[in-house]
Amino acid sequence: MADPRLYVALDLPSIEQARDMVERLGDSVVSYKIGLQLLPLGGAEFGRELAAMGKNVFLDFKLHDIDATVEKATRSISNIGADLLTVHARPDVMKAAAKGRSGRLKILGVTVLTSLDEQALIDIGYHHTAEELVLHRVRQAVDAGIDGVVSSPLEAGKIRAMVPDDFLIVTPGVRMAGNDVGDQKRVATPGVAIRAGASHIVVGRPITQSNDPKSAAEAITADMAK
Ligand code: C5P
Repeated sequence: MADPRLYVALDLPSIEQARDMVERLGDSVVSYKIGLQLLPLGGAEFGRELAAMGKNVFLDFKLHDIDATVEKATRSISNIGADLLTVHARPDVMKAAAKGRSGRLKILGVTVLTSLDEQALIDIGYHHTAEELVLHRVRQAVDAGIDGVVSSPLEAGKIRAMVPDDFLIVTPGVRMAGNDVGDQKRVATPGVAIRAGASHIVVGRPITQSNDPKSAAEAITADMAK
């Protein structure tokens, strides 16, 4: 049985390959993430197609612009039938997205990209550790009235302790024990991420690059239930 809390990241070079992957995964996966790689190739339309098939759709478009533009973009995206949309976790951006959202669409704030380490944050001009910045932005996300955040599984526990129960915590950086971590820096297993307080997990390459994507997805689903 598919677990709707598992979003498979369709980070693939074409819509055709993404559609093939969805077909191969069949009823083992019901939730999919479409990101910037597919967006310019018709990713929004593909999201509509998946939603019409009854799949849960996460549009990871990471909006960041002036209030009016974010609000109007969110309004357009609300019509796709997706469940989740990301925006950068800046108070003005999050408030604008909350205003533009309608229907089933929920808004997630991207706190701090996992590719940024402490030195990178200093170089950008931030005078906080990654964790301080994440927790600060979580408070701002709650205040802005959005529905959740994206964070590393290693921060999920601290975040869960400071947000309402129905606040979403969506974590990439998930790997089975013994898996190649690739460019993910701060990882946890599916079960650990869920027990730490994640409401959803995002897994890409361990499933999409596997010789047997369906078995990989089933193993991850089983680990989530542990
Ligand atoms: O590594 P994996 O293929 O499982 O990545 C799934 C998602 O995790 C990606 O779509 C991306 O949004 C996110 N990611 C991340 N940090 C990285 C690499 C990917 O948060 N270093």
